[in-house]
Amino acid sequence: MKGLVLCGGAGTRLRPITHTMAKQLVPVANKPILFYGLEALKDAGIEDVGIVVGDTKEEIIHVVGDGSRWGLDVTYIEQEKPLGLAHAVLVSKGYLSDDEFVMYLGDNLIKDGIKSCVEQFERNHPNSQILLAHVKNPEQFGVAEIDGNKVVRLVEKPRIPPSDLALVGVYIFDRNILEAAKSIEPSWRGELEITDAIQWLIDNNFKVDSHVIDGWWKDTGRLEDMLEANRIMLESLEPCVKGSIDDRSMVIGRVVIEEGAEVVNSTIRGPAIIGERTKVVNSFIGPFTSIYYEVEVSNSEIEHSIILEKSKIVDIPVRIEDSLIGQNVEVTRAKQKPFSYKFMLGDNSGVVIV
Ligand code: G1P
Repeated sequence: MKGLVLCGGAGTRLRPITHTMAKQLVPVANKPILFYGLEALKDAGIEDVGIVVGDTKEEIIHVVGDGSRWGLDVTYIEQEKPLGLAHAVLVSKGYLSDDEFVMYLGDNLIKDGIKSCVEQFERNHPNSQILLAHVKNPEQFGVAEIDGNKVVRLVEKPRIPPSDLALVGVYIFDRNILEAAKSIEPSWRGELEITDAIQWLIDNNFKVDSHVIDGWWKDTGRLEDMLEANRIMLESLEPCVKGSIDDRSMVIGRVVIEEGAEVVNSTIRGPAIIGERTKVVNSFIGPFTSIYYEVEVSNSEIEHSIILEKSKIVDIPVRIEDSLIGQNVEVTRAKQKPFSYKFMLGDNSGVVIV
């Protein structure tokens, strides 16, 4: 069985972060979201993985490489325009040939992985199997109606959902999905929807099964989702200190201090992670915070936030919370009059001041 990981898409809901980086590479607990997916595939016994890439192709290839770091053999497949998930299947035709495959949306995080889902498929060998989860807001997802294990109907983002079972971004298919994807028409949003292709399978008497997960999962499209994903992943961190902590500092609870990181006269209250070569001086890092590599935090307090690489947070008099701060950002205090707020914010940024 092969893996097909989708990494196209513009990531509009995570702007401005996604103006400069692929949404699948935003780190959660200091690890790009995409890596969790690659690990899940490997853990399910899949080694041959195709990654469908779009505008952010170079960046993804640069970070993932040939996949050997995970014991995977990675092939890149170009999708020129994000014309839908079923379109991504069509452009992957040559790579997939007649093999069965797991399709995994690269911005989805499934905490317990996909091993049991793949095992169920291998036991029952339907033509397709979809991963489902009970959600409170089914109208924002593809929604399934099931009878026992069997999927009887699927609708994409219905106004009146037939159930609370959302399609999680993991699907298993045999080669019949190619004919299905070829047979459907674009939806109102101009995309070839995988949901419609699976409905085509059902309508043409192919067997489509479901696998309902009880564990946590998230489609990390928005800031709130990123912070929640970060919270969940930090909660299962193995505490570990590779960097240095001076004796005026306090580290409490589930905390990872990565190699080369320095904590000086500061308090880190976990769950939290401090990235490689990051410096925290005279500061407080509160629960549910991930600070990526080569960041500088001094005379400041940060809680429930994600800070990306090489940023500087210096002399901030109020606690920073619920924030996602991008790469190479500087947040600091005026050193001389006028003591006013001064901003240089990219398009689609958001700032809340006190
Ligand atoms: C896509 C699918 C939808 C599925 C969701 C899961 O939605 O079309 O059926 O429930 O992923 O993340 P999109 O993220 O394209 O809006």
